[in-house]
Amino acid sequence: MHRLQIAPMMGYTHRHYRYLMRRLCPDALLYSEMITTGALLFGDAHRYLAHDATEQPVALQLGGNDPSALAQCASMAVENGYTQINLNVGCPSSRVKEGGIGASLYRSPQLVAECVTAMCAAVSVPVTVKCRIGVDDCDQFDYLVDFANKVDLAGAAYLVVHARKAWLSGLNPKQNRTIPPLRYDVVRDLSGCVDIPIVLNGGLTDVDSIKQQLDVFPGVMVGRYACSHPLELSEFSRGGPPSALFIADILKDYFSYMSDRLQQGDRVSFMIQPLHGFFRASRGAKRWRSLLGAMQTGLLSGRGTPADYFEEILAHVQLSDRHSLLD
Ligand SMILES: Cc1cc2nc3c(=O)[nH]c(=O)nc-3n(C[C@H](O)[C@H](O)[C@H](O)COP(=O)(O)O)c2cc1C
Repeated sequence: MHRLQIAPMMGYTHRHYRYLMRRLCPDALLYSEMITTGALLFGDAHRYLAHDATEQPVALQLGGNDPSALAQCASMAVENGYTQINLNVGCPSSRVKEGGIGASLYRSPQLVAECVTAMCAAVSVPVTVKCRIGVDDCDQFDYLVDFANKVDLAGAAYLVVHARKAWLSGLNPKQNRTIPPLRYDVVRDLSGCVDIPIVLNGGLTDVDSIKQQLDVFPGVMVGRYACSHPLELSEFSRGGPPSALFIADILKDYFSYMSDRLQQGDRVSFMIQPLHGFFRASRGAKRWRSLLGAMQTGLLSGRGTPADYFEEILAHVQLSDRHSLLD
């Protein structure tokens, strides 16, 4: 079990983000975005599963409700190098709701157990589940305990619990990540009365809180904070604030990666997106954003390569160190 896990996030935890986060947090388990079984079985599976080998360990998160399709997709993921499989039982989007997957599966614990059993039979890597503490009026503690015990018996290695319930009617996914109150007490009580290890997720926004929760839980999963403050999060893995030299090395490596990926036809904006969280809370934030904007515009219009922008970016990093902008 990885003590630090970086949450699956659609539109964010794509291969470029994971490439960067692997270097910032070498000890973290990374997750893919949710990929539906339909997309893998009937879409461009090669593209969905493609990643750089150095990103591993990465858990592929699957969205689905058909045990045999999930088993097939789990096998495809492992053949392609993924080291864990996670089943999404927490996503409250309307698309997911209509498909009877994600958070709506929480109402069908027996089906979730069948899905887990089928995936465990198909692969030898750990299979895990991610859920909420409740969905709509299905939010009793005993129900949550029963759900956890069922996925345990089915063979799941651990359960990740987002410490909020989800409202499938009335709230959109973004509201569902902020409006329902965080209930760490519920997740702590759950952890105390089931055998399956529980990983806490939701609302962790600094390294001290992460460390505190690791006194209670064997693992924590961090989502938005890992995107908005990646350098701060790296302090957890590295044991202290990153130096300008470390940041420069990371950026140099990432810029060279960007050059390679651009030649493979990957989109500039996706590759620049993970850099936005660097220096977000510092005095240099505005300058940083404008450097990234200039690079994006330049690359999109065919002016230069990422390496051509590196020196200017590097100067900014050195400036940052001198002014302690990472404080
Ligand atoms: C933009 C975005 C996309 C997300 N996509 C997924 C997803 O694909 N699968 C999933 O299980 N959770 C998804 N989530 C939820 C996160 O994994 C996590 O449970 C949630 O953000 C709470 O953790 P946090 O407070 O640390 O961000 C997403 C969250 C965000 C902000």
